[in-house]
Amino acid sequence: MNDYEQFISNIKKKTRIDLSLYKEAQMKRRLTSLYQKRHASSFMDFYRALCEKDELLQEFLDRFTLNVSEFYRNRSKWIELEEQILVPMLKKKHSLKIWCAACSTGEEPYTMAMILAQFLPLKNIRILATDIDDTVLKKARKGVYGERELQELPLHMKIKYFTYREGLYYLSEDIKNTVVFKKHDLLQDPFQNNYDLIVCRNVFIYFTDVAKHALYEKMSQSLKKGGVLFVGSTEQIFNTGSYGLTCSLPFFYRKE
Ligand SMILES: C[S@@+](CC[C@H](N)C(=O)[O-])C[C@H]1O[C@@H](n2cnc3c(N)ncnc32)[C@H](O)[C@@H]1O
Repeated sequence: MNDYEQFISNIKKKTRIDLSLYKEAQMKRRLTSLYQKRHASSFMDFYRALCEKDELLQEFLDRFTLNVSEFYRNRSKWIELEEQILVPMLKKKHSLKIWCAACSTGEEPYTMAMILAQFLPLKNIRILATDIDDTVLKKARKGVYGERELQELPLHMKIKYFTYREGLYYLSEDIKNTVVFKKHDLLQDPFQNNYDLIVCRNVFIYFTDVAKHALYEKMSQSLKKGGVLFVGSTEQIFNTGSYGLTCSLPFFYRKE
């Protein structure tokens, strides 16, 4: 085993995270710059340091993928989601089972809640939001954001659902209460079934083709018939038929 292979094997034993399912060149680049900053000389040298210092392990867990997110990220896609996917779904039923996977600091599930609140009473909205990273989930539960994360949010929603204090925006408890955050590893943990909508954006880009293939299959199985998978704007799925999906609009895939 080379240095990197030894590292990923040890990290899996220590944290359950399987780095072999993440694109190797990209992951090596991120981790090399991280370990060089901490004056380690190799992956295994870095691993030994992680075992000695909890804060280094935490830093690794926080940084092995990017956590950047924002409300209404790629705004035109959220408008399509509302008008062409959610409105027709809501004509047929008055509550939807929704999962925002790899939700980072919560902007996506909260965007979803604010969109749904235009059509449904808040008590009918319940969204599961998951991520592998405890630190981002803690931040998501707090619901406190800076200007940058809100830059795409429509003004009427900003006014209705946020309180501004000393440079920060505090999300209303009403919206916060519609989302349940849980730790979940997309590559290892079981999925629930019968979803009307799965939002999983800007995380497939990190995974190997083998991991993506397995994930598309599992996500398709988790959707009910007619349910939709919403992916990131660089994450087109090919061979949709082999997963039982059809592309209903770019970046929206419907379970057949
Ligand atoms: C770039 S952010 C995307 C956030 C949000 N979905 C968006 O598009 O704005 C990627 C997120 O994927 C999470 N992630 C990485 N690997 C994961 C895995 N195996 N299971 C679940 N989440 C994962 C990271 O912790 C990070 O919060």
